[in-house]
Amino acid sequence: MPTLFDPLTLGAIKAPNRVFMAPMTRGRATRDHVPTPMMVRYYSQRASSGLIISEAIGISRQGLGWPYAPGLWTNQQIEAWKPVTRAVHEKGGRIVAQLWHMGRMTHSALTGQQPVSCSATATPGDAYTYDGRQPYEIARPLLIEEIPGVIADHVQAARNAIASGFDGVQIHAANGQLIDQFLRNNSNMRTDEYGGSVENRVRLLKELTQEVAHAIGADRTSVRLSPNGETYGVDDSDPAPLFMAAAKALDAIGIAFLELKEASPHGTFVSTDVPRQSPMMRRYFRGPLILNSDYDMARAQADLDSGLADAISFGRPFIANPDLVERLRDNAPLSEPQIATFYTQEADGYTDYSALANSKAVA
Ligand SMILES: Cc1cc2nc3c(=O)[nH]c(=O)nc-3n(C[C@H](O)[C@H](O)[C@H](O)COP(=O)(O)O)c2cc1C
Repeated sequence: MPTLFDPLTLGAIKAPNRVFMAPMTRGRATRDHVPTPMMVRYYSQRASSGLIISEAIGISRQGLGWPYAPGLWTNQQIEAWKPVTRAVHEKGGRIVAQLWHMGRMTHSALTGQQPVSCSATATPGDAYTYDGRQPYEIARPLLIEEIPGVIADHVQAARNAIASGFDGVQIHAANGQLIDQFLRNNSNMRTDEYGGSVENRVRLLKELTQEVAHAIGADRTSVRLSPNGETYGVDDSDPAPLFMAAAKALDAIGIAFLELKEASPHGTFVSTDVPRQSPMMRRYFRGPLILNSDYDMARAQADLDSGLADAISFGRPFIANPDLVERLRDNAPLSEPQIATFYTQEADGYTDYSALANSKAVA
């Protein structure tokens, strides 16, 4: 069985190890959602990861409702991503862009328009805006004629990602965002061919992934799902048939890899009693499977040994340990991330976590 430090081929991407960096929003772009030089340093510090999955990147004005999160729909944004991908490549790394439409999780205070989703529902709680926290708004159901436009925006953002130098893209279909809103039966009440049956609820994910794969190559296209438990109020009463269908559809498209963010009963990021779906999905998705949440070295290696996963993505450990690969390999102690600076706009808690002195990674 492979170790975490063995290489893995993901379609067109060759990862030298199986310690991946999970996608993490950090709010260090400009108010106009343009990447900043600080982000060049942050990502290049983490280039020894087998694969960096970028923070979620807005695909359109309509889809991005997070303050200071980056986008990938204007020329200025495309140009500003180039130094990031170049710096990661110069350090010998690889990076894919996570493509993001937040659906009902956007807010008119940021987008200037009512949020859209599959149905007229609202996320519970408050959204972050430039004017503090404000209650989430009820979404406007997308007209069926508007769905090709949402797909086209993803396709254009995928092309822009390649133009910006990314090695590929990850379609964000997890964590209660737009595609997840379509997938699950407590947020999707549509009565047309995008709602109701499992086949219909998987349709947007399937069509969108097919189109992105057609545009940039299935071997550079990946998907993230969060198949067990609730996120931001989005949940499904019967996840097994739904995520079996999703796994089959993605297998048929032949994407480069599938990443699953799974919760556990004692999860420190999200917790749930809904069983993990990865053992079931592994049977239907035959490409590389990446698993996430609350992994340490021992659990990560155990899931590789059992054949459940091909690689593991680490989130919070990568915030505080830019040289996480080297630390795991050397059994070195890990630094703890500062939660208070997860989403602030400063270098503090972002680029000032250092590598171990004897580590090969450069801080
Ligand atoms: C600060 C922060 C930002 C995050 N942003 C994203 C994101 O943009 N996209 C996404 O799919 N998940 C996001 N997540 C979830 C992580 O990818 C990951 O699933 C989570 O941190 C659990 O993994 P871990 O236990 O290794 O930290 C975020 C998590 C954190 C802590």
